[in-house]
Amino acid sequence: MKKILLLPGDGIGIEVVAAARAVLEALQGVFPDLRFQFSESPIGLGAIRAGLDAVPEGTVEAAKLADGCLLGAIDEAALPKGTSGLGRFRRLLGGYANIRPVKAYPGVRCLCPGLDVVVVRENTEGMYSGIEFETGSEGACAVRVITRQGSEQVARVAFELARGRRRRVTAVHKLGVFKRTDGLFLETVRAVGAAFPEVELETRNIDACAMELILHPAHFDVILATNMFGDILSDVAAGLVGGIGLAPSAVLGDRYAYFEPVHGTAPDIAGKGIANPLAAILAAAMMLHHLKEAPAARAIERAVAAVLAEGQPRTPDLGGTATTTEVAAAVAARLAP
Ligand code: IPM
Ligand code: MN
Repeated sequence: MKKILLLPGDGIGIEVVAAARAVLEALQGVFPDLRFQFSESPIGLGAIRAGLDAVPEGTVEAAKLADGCLLGAIDEAALPKGTSGLGRFRRLLGGYANIRPVKAYPGVRCLCPGLDVVVVRENTEGMYSGIEFETGSEGACAVRVITRQGSEQVARVAFELARGRRRRVTAVHKLGVFKRTDGLFLETVRAVGAAFPEVELETRNIDACAMELILHPAHFDVILATNMFGDILSDVAAGLVGGIGLAPSAVLGDRYAYFEPVHGTAPDIAGKGIANPLAAILAAAMMLHHLKEAPAARAIERAVAAVLAEGQPRTPDLGGTATTTEVAAAVAARLAP
């Protein structure tokens, strides 16, 4: 029995997590040994409305106790000033590595068929350290924190991943400007890389990397980036394969992990039942890989690929007219051992 904690959060997070749950429930019929016990906890705006903190202590505790944790999305912009949702949740779980695989699916029209990269994004510090303050009435400051430990642990994840792929790590920086912070980041990445002689390490300025990813996408394998650069590059990469509606992610630490779609709450379509559930469904597949349930994870991945290859049903972001529930049902119907 796997205890799965669902954290739907806000906006379309609620709809896509329900869709992912439906697929996981259907999976039990295909893999009889697989049993899930679902529970749900509040996080984000919904938690605040219920009189709780944006990241309630009970939710963090529940995430630590669960076998698998799937999050929808948090409306960060609507949270009170000085409050962070995802950032805090990630820090409290020690989830320092955000793994964002981006690959093109046959049947989805996109700028870059064949793209297959993984962005490994540092996820607890950098420009999103959460340290921000006013400097009098005329200015404000955000602090970009880079530590040796933070860089080292995320670099190790990137090299280990690259070792099982095409063996190239591209470390992204802006050394000319961030001489100290990115100086430390690159120095640390090189030191970690020395233990992986079979993996090629190259470096790129963030701006050049964003352009090159568009012009020569096939060059890249694993892109290792500090928090904000990784946030931006993972959306660029997702845009090249049809949008963030298909982009899942894993947040990994030494003790805990959770899984979420790369997209946010999409307030413009929230509640309409037309959000693309595939990113959340693929995040559930990443969760199953983490739980060492590879055959079940691959069954989800194959079903998603089959639905996309068939061309329908599709939600409006992919040019279709289907609902979230219809797409989830189509994936569930194509699950096979
Ligand atoms: C993401 C999101 C978040 C992030 C925001 C909402 C804090 O953009 O998961 O990519 O930057 O991590
Ligand atoms: Mn983002």
